[in-house]
Amino acid sequence: MTTKGHVLFEQDALQMLESMLIDSNQRNLKVFLLTDENCYTHCLPLLEKMLRQAQPHWHLIQIPSGENHKNLATTAIIWEKLTEQQAGRDALLINLGGGVITDIGGFAASCYKRGIRTLHIPTTLLAMTDAAIGGKTGIDFDFYKNHIGTFYLPEFVLIFPDFLQSLDHQQIISGWGEVLKYAYISEPNLLREALNQKVDFSRWKTMIESCVKIKTSVTSLDPTENGLRKILNFGHTIGHAFESEALQMSFPLLHGEAVAAGILTEMLISNKQMGLSYSYIYQYITIYKTWFKPYLFDKNIIPQLIGRMAQDKKNTGNQLKFVLISEPGKAHYDVSVPVQAVEASLLEYLKLIL
Ligand SMILES: NC(=O)c1ccc[n+]([C@@H]2O[C@H](COP(=O)([O-])OP(=O)(O)OC[C@H]3O[C@@H](n4cnc5c(N)ncnc54)[C@H](O)[C@@H]3O)[C@@H](O)[C@H]2O)c1
Repeated sequence: MTTKGHVLFEQDALQMLESMLIDSNQRNLKVFLLTDENCYTHCLPLLEKMLRQAQPHWHLIQIPSGENHKNLATTAIIWEKLTEQQAGRDALLINLGGGVITDIGGFAASCYKRGIRTLHIPTTLLAMTDAAIGGKTGIDFDFYKNHIGTFYLPEFVLIFPDFLQSLDHQQIISGWGEVLKYAYISEPNLLREALNQKVDFSRWKTMIESCVKIKTSVTSLDPTENGLRKILNFGHTIGHAFESEALQMSFPLLHGEAVAAGILTEMLISNKQMGLSYSYIYQYITIYKTWFKPYLFDKNIIPQLIGRMAQDKKNTGNQLKFVLISEPGKAHYDVSVPVQAVEASLLEYLKLIL
């Protein structure tokens, strides 16, 4: 049985990292660590001593932080560094960072010499609960989110919740966007955490474990998203359209913030198409307005947003396909929705958040 993609926490994670590094050192295998400037400053120091002791010859690849660098040009920089150092097919690429680093690092590793070993060490709430789990890699292309990518599992995902101590508040809130998604597709108990207005560090490990459990159980049943895995995209069809639009306009909208706004709009569609009760929608609006700065857009961009949704990977033919919920915990995928109904929900979203 393969352990690829297995998730380890804290002490177990540390031991696994140490033993993989010692093994690479003994076998003379090259090790690369990909990170960005923030994780270099805040996260690397927590591991550096052990890294230097276990594998003194590792190579650093540092790329600039941010979604606007999750592209082909940055991927080429990673491939150039691997090539310069003559990384072979037995090299190991460690991705230390948020979802941008695990997505681009996973993608670069999956293509370099047709695939080298990789290891994710997520450092944001969003990456610990979602991006680093399940083997989806990707980069943005032509302002379309994750337009190019692969399915490629890392050897392991190593989670150290302590990294979250240095993460700024807005990034933590962005992570909540994905936690809320899990709450609505599968684990309504997580809503209790969301309704509690304090960010409680002591509860994080348990909450991350709940999200990891949902994601790994869904992705192990459907690794390449032919069916069930699609439920993990709740909030994302519209969320990605918001995020892509914001990216093109250089408007700062984080992934989880876009997903949180997407959840509200897709709940409104769920009301019309699946009979989701308005009581859940009003509860969500309370959560959304408590945690997030509501995302506002000009209603004239609705045709562009629809155009972006038409590029969504879940669509087949000309139909817009959505993940909708009939109640929290009951998600339905591949639901075809007429364009007019999507437009109406976008307008209703604007009315409700003002
Ligand atoms: N592959 C998947 O299944 C999947 C799922 C969800 C999201 N994603 C992707 O994840 C990306 C978003 O990831 P993200 O929200 O982690 O953003 P991110 O990777 O951009 O990280 C957010 C910011 O926080 C900084 N940072 C990271 N960890 C830190 C720490 N511990 N202390 C201080 N600063 C730190 C980073 O440098 C960056 O500036 C998007 O590109 C999205 O498409 C992928």
